Amino acid sequence: MNPLDIEYVRKQFPGLAGGFAYMDNAGGSMVPRIVAQRVSDYLLNSSVQLGASYLPSVEAGERVMQARHSVMQLINAEHPEEVIMGGSTTHLLQILCRAIAPSIVPGDEIIVTNCDHEANIGPWVKLCESRGATLRVWEVNLDTCELELDDLQALLTDKTRYVAMTHTSNILGSVNPVAAVARCVHAVGAKLCVDAVAYAPHRLVDVQASGADFYVYSFYKTFGPHFAVLWGRRYLLLELPSLNHFFIGQEVVPYKLQPGNVNYELSFGCIGISDYLLDISTRLGAQGSERTCMQAAFDAFEVQEDLLAERLLAFLREREGVRIIGKAHTHNRVPTISFVVEGIQSEAIVRMVDGHRIGIRFGDFYARRLIEALGLDQFGGVVRVSLAHYNTLDEVDRLITALDQAINALR
Ligand SMILES: Cc1ncc(COP(=O)(O)O)c(C=O)c1O
Repeated sequence: MNPLDIEYVRKQFPGLAGGFAYMDNAGGSMVPRIVAQRVSDYLLNSSVQLGASYLPSVEAGERVMQARHSVMQLINAEHPEEVIMGGSTTHLLQILCRAIAPSIVPGDEIIVTNCDHEANIGPWVKLCESRGATLRVWEVNLDTCELELDDLQALLTDKTRYVAMTHTSNILGSVNPVAAVARCVHAVGAKLCVDAVAYAPHRLVDVQASGADFYVYSFYKTFGPHFAVLWGRRYLLLELPSLNHFFIGQEVVPYKLQPGNVNYELSFGCIGISDYLLDISTRLGAQGSERTCMQAAFDAFEVQEDLLAERLLAFLREREGVRIIGKAHTHNRVPTISFVVEGIQSEAIVRMVDGHRIGIRFGDFYARRLIEALGLDQFGGVVRVSLAHYNTLDEVDRLITALDQAINALR
């Protein structure tokens, strides 16, 4: 296999041409040209209402269906009806909880973590409140900054109906053992809902291998347009009521959970994510099925990301006063790296780095419960550097220099 050609990779992302170093990729990633071209192609050539009998409408409908099949393959869903698309992960999780609500009765138990983005906590909390169910919290171990399986086991009972967790925290970056969690959750007859927003930019998603029952992430963090996908097992989706018009029945998946329908041009744009991955895999010399080729692309991304992450982590490990929040080494983590510096507000560091044409970020990243549990609100949250495969060692070195200067100036 050839190594990843970073120069070629970067040429696919017009947004990188200006030399600004984007390291807020967990906030939103850059978009390859092919994605933008597909969005534009749809708007310019297929902007008609779907569902009519005239040819352009039929063809536009086929394009939207092609998008659903492309996403189905990208996430390794078994059936196209399992692919529910929507504006954002936050929106889709609210849709899911609304659909689940009627089946929840007093005495039922739902488990959330305290290290998820609020998108995968708040709707479950509200669901418990509105249906008289009991909320339990699977708390992160404060010493290891990990979700421990034993702690979950202690919370699971035969009353547990759902467990909601993150595949990767957008602060900690470590990859959680979702398949092992799924086995424990299923052993008590409960269902698992996984937020993969911070995971999907770095590993090839495989919803079936995840063991989850519901799985959601956002395309705008995975080189796509501002759009998102919720996957659910077909038999579970069929059990949910319709949230759509009264004449869109319970059996009409996924449309019953897509009231107002999907955004057509963004759906079509999502095909560009797979186009991009396959193009990269061709240059790597990968062969085999499209999934195999996409896996090769992500394997190459992981090598590059580990290289970048280790460079930054090595600096942070050595720098006096710096506390890395989460794993200090690259094993089993994505390159989303958070830290605080003793005696300095995180905002002050980031504002100094802003001047170097480098985009990083500070705050709680809507994982407010985690930031509070770790006592990091006193720093105004963490400094977060979230790298992607298109970042370079040069950029990381520029960041290290800027961070070094900022910390020296502020101490
Ligand atoms: C881990 C995680 N989950 C969920 C979300 C929410 O995603 P969206 O903006 O698509 O609602 C984010 C956004 O930053 C996130 O990082």
